[in-house]
Amino acid sequence: MSSTTVPRPIEPARPIEIVPSVLPADFARLGEECAALEAAGVDRIQWDVMDGVFVPNLTFGPDVIAACRPHAQVMFEAHLMVVDPDPMLGAYVDAGCEMLIVHAESVTHLHRSLNRVAELGAKPAVAINPSTPIDAVSHVLDLVDMVLVMTVNPGFGGQAYIATMEPKIAALRRLIDESGCAGASGAGIDIEVDGGISADTISGAAAAGANVLVSGSALYRCADGLAHGVADLRCRAEAATRA
Ligand code: DX5
Repeated sequence: MSSTTVPRPIEPARPIEIVPSVLPADFARLGEECAALEAAGVDRIQWDVMDGVFVPNLTFGPDVIAACRPHAQVMFEAHLMVVDPDPMLGAYVDAGCEMLIVHAESVTHLHRSLNRVAELGAKPAVAINPSTPIDAVSHVLDLVDMVLVMTVNPGFGGQAYIATMEPKIAALRRLIDESGCAGASGAGIDIEVDGGISADTISGAAAAGANVLVSGSALYRCADGLAHGVADLRCRAEAATRA
């Protein structure tokens, strides 16, 4: 198999989920923006939490997320692009995040951090940056419901999709399937991708094995509106898993 050949996922495709990043949203109207995203048919909303240290950008904390919680019923997930997230995990759960995504690169004791997320009553997930190998998560699959494979170097929206992550996504799907691990909740383990996901790139990511797809810039750029953008991305991803 050549290095560019993407092996097919083993297990039947997991349900496709389309997840907006709120980075391109109007920060002066975030509550209304969450309501509009829910009305547009998104499956959950991702909050890109950035501390200006782990990534060269600074966004919002738990209080902003808590203020938006009443404006939508869909699941909130916090993508914690921060150094040392452990002390604030409870604050993001209290703010209304049902899933917390911890970067493997941001903690010394990833196994402990993911256990703590579960103890707090949230769904644990782990993220890996483009240069981080999937081996970094191979010993914590039993502690997570999702693995996020970054398809950009985190910190900003609107970056170019890194297509060389597709063999990594496929290898991770096979690692999960061959492990027989059902994840923290016992319902299996999703693979999420985040960064540069658009109508042009979503098919490659989905065909490689990603079933939860985060889009920010491309979704908000859709000339026909959010609902059309969500439906179009979903259709393309589902078609790619049937091809
Ligand atoms: C990390 C951020 C972005 C954002 C999506 O930088 O997590 O990836 O969510 O950015 P787009 O979809 O605009 O590339």
